[in-house]
Amino acid sequence: MSAIPLSQSKEIPSLTELLAKSFLKGKHLLSVKQLGPSELDQLLAVAREMRIATEQKRVLKILNGVVLGEIFYEPSTRTSTSFDAAMKRVGGQTVILNESYSSTQKGESLEDTIRTVGQYADAIVLRHPDENAVDAAAIVSPVPIINGGNGAKEHPTQGLLDLLTIMEELDTIDGLSITFVGDLRYGRTVHSLCELLQYYRVTINLCSPPGLEMPLELAQQIRDRGQLGVISAELSPKIVSESDVIYCTRVQKERFKDLELYEKVKESLTVDPSVMKDAKSRMILMHPLPRNREVAPEVDRDPRAAYFRQVSPQLHEVACFVDWRN
Ligand code: NCD
Repeated sequence: MSAIPLSQSKEIPSLTELLAKSFLKGKHLLSVKQLGPSELDQLLAVAREMRIATEQKRVLKILNGVVLGEIFYEPSTRTSTSFDAAMKRVGGQTVILNESYSSTQKGESLEDTIRTVGQYADAIVLRHPDENAVDAAAIVSPVPIINGGNGAKEHPTQGLLDLLTIMEELDTIDGLSITFVGDLRYGRTVHSLCELLQYYRVTINLCSPPGLEMPLELAQQIRDRGQLGVISAELSPKIVSESDVIYCTRVQKERFKDLELYEKVKESLTVDPSVMKDAKSRMILMHPLPRNREVAPEVDRDPRAAYFRQVSPQLHEVACFVDWRN
């Protein structure tokens, strides 16, 4: 690891120091439930330092010779290219396996795919439609597994970079009113972010069409934490005007058992300029991408639209796994 003096201030530890004491060394990252306040502080500090460092130097050498495997059993633009770009920006490399071209098509089991790619890579990002797949992979994997999305359950690294985005865009998380809109039932990024928000003083509003409400257990946890604001089937002007963050999600067609329900709800709760006119001047509109109809393209020009800004510092993703080496 090269000793680059990234932080000049004595109080802020350097990236090298931060990585040296990482809690993730040799560990899987399967769920945000593994992360408490001190782990979050550490990860977000690494991510922030790394973003600053790559902005200054373009490419770092801290992961020279390290290979990350990416195995995706579901489509991905943002997460897959983000991990790939992040890895390259810190001097590492990637081996990418797309399920539709892999030996899965010849009957290879998930476990055998993991055992094989685990021989070529130092860690593996796995995305799978089955929510139990990451745990099954972790049992047989010779290297750490990073959950890149397991069914409708979780997407830990997106949750982390969502948290970082809020912090960087609005300078704080405490005191904010955060409104989740759309498919809260199947939207895994929402589930991970809500879990992470338990460590902050926030109000959480849940707006979803009937049938796509947040899973009961998660909604109950938010209520028990004293963070629940309103639950609504509509994104009313009042909710919009009181929100510091509006977080939209795509209606997850691929997870519907009942396509009739999908047809009924697919275009409800759209954010367009007429919705944004009620929003605070200092607020952000977020979206984990890909976007369908839930955010109108005309909103992209609005400076409060943060969804493409939160993609560009691809490096955020790397903070989650950069320090798993023993
Ligand atoms: C999401 C996902 O795959 O969970 N996108 C992402 O990875 N950033 C959202 C979605 O598919 O709608």
